[in-house]
Amino acid sequence: MIPAIVRSSRAALQRSLSTAASTASSSLNTIAIHGGESVDPHTKASTPPLVLASTFSVTEPLSFSANELEDDSPYCYTRWSNPTVRALEQKLALLEGVPATNAVCFGSGMAASTATLFSFLQAGDHVVAADVNYPGVAEMFRHTLPKFGVRVTTVDPSDLNSVETAAQQPNTKMIYVETPTNPILRLCDISACADIAHDVDAELVVGEKCIFFLPFL
Ligand SMILES: Cc1ncc(COP(=O)(O)O)c(C=O)c1O
Repeated sequence: MIPAIVRSSRAALQRSLSTAASTASSSLNTIAIHGGESVDPHTKASTPPLVLASTFSVTEPLSFSANELEDDSPYCYTRWSNPTVRALEQKLALLEGVPATNAVCFGSGMAASTATLFSFLQAGDHVVAADVNYPGVAEMFRHTLPKFGVRVTTVDPSDLNSVETAAQQPNTKMIYVETPTNPILRLCDISACADIAHDVDAELVVGEKCIFFLPFL
C-alpha cells in the first residue's frame, strides 16, 4: 500500500476507463505483474532488485535543487528519485494509461496529500473540499491551508450542484474529493467533478490511499 499521485487528464481518464472496461482482466493482471519491469542489465535479475541506496554517484555536476531536476536527470539522491520507486511509478502510470512521468510515489498518504496541496495552491487561492475526508486531510483544510491564506469551501461532493455552485469563485484552483471517503465510504462521481473543475480551469484532486479502492478500478 504505497501512496501515489497519478496525474490524469480527462482524455487519459476516459481512455483508462474504457481500456479497463473493454480489456480482459488478464491484461490488467499482466500489466500489474510485468508493467514497468525489465531484466536488470547488471545482474540479469528478472524482477527489479530493490535499491536501498540513499545517494548515487554521478558523472556530471548536478544541482542539488529539486527545481532543476528534469525527467531524465540521473539518479542522485533517493529523496528525489530511486530506481525501485521509479519502477512502481511506471507500473501505476501504465495501469492508469497516463505517461510514466505523471505518477509520483510518496512514503505516506499525508506526504502525498500535503505535497499536492502545497504544490498546487498558494495564498489567495480558493479550494472546494469535500466536507468529510480522512481526518489528517480534513485538518489541512480546516486549519493549515487557511493559516497560509487559502480559502476553503466545504461541500458534499455527492451533490454535484453544490460542487458546481461552490466552484464559481474567480480564484477557485482546486476541487478535492475522496471516493470512497475515508471513513464514511461515501461515493462521488469523479468524471462529473472533473468536468466541473475543468470548466473553471481548476484541478480535480482525488485522494485515495488504495484502502477501499484501487486506482485503475
Ligand atoms: C485518503 C487518505 N489520505 C491520507 C491518509 C493518511 O495516510 P498515512 O497514514 O500513510 O499518512 C489516509 C489514511 O488512511 C487516507 O485514507
